[in-house]
Amino acid sequence: MILGIGIDMVKIDKIRKAINRWGSGFTERIFNPEELEGIAKGKIYDQRLAARFAAKEAVIKAISKSIPLSFRDILILNRGNGAPYCNLKKGKNLKVILSITHIEDYAVACAVAQKKI
Ligand SMILES: CC(C)(COP(=O)(O)OP(=O)(O)OC[C@H]1O[C@@H](n2cnc3c(N)ncnc32)[C@H](O)[C@@H]1OP(=O)(O)O)[C@@H](O)C(=O)NCCC(=O)NCCS
Repeated sequence: MILGIGIDMVKIDKIRKAINRWGSGFTERIFNPEELEGIAKGKIYDQRLAARFAAKEAVIKAISKSIPLSFRDILILNRGNGAPYCNLKKGKNLKVILSITHIEDYAVACAVAQKKI
């Protein structure tokens, strides 16, 4: 059963500025170690972090009526084929599917929350 959908768009520059200003104080407040390990520190590192930030906000929008979630309750990871997936630390009866895109200036994510039956 579908519980909700969420969408979010993040300006890459906003994330870049937060990383430059706060460094790991920012990234570790938002992301879990396994999420950060999956993002190579290359040319599109800021884009990929921004996309995951957008994905977490999209998940919160999709689920917010069911349970309160913090950023670190939500894990955004990638399958072997590159497709993103979401693991939740709370709400074992919930499943989220999502899609992510990012370009030089913006990242967008869309999430659909489902109740497992
Ligand atoms: C997967 C694909 C659609 C990504 O599109 P893109 O325009 O290059 O990049 P986007 O910014 O829109 O999307 C990137 C995100 O797509 C997601 N993604 C990657 N592989 C995916 C897959 N197999 N299924 C679903 N989502 C996928 C990832 O979340 C990725 O971001 P991340 O690596 O930071 O997690 C594209 O690489 C692809 O494989 N297209 C298939 C068609 C094709 O091969 N065309 C070439 C011949 S013309």
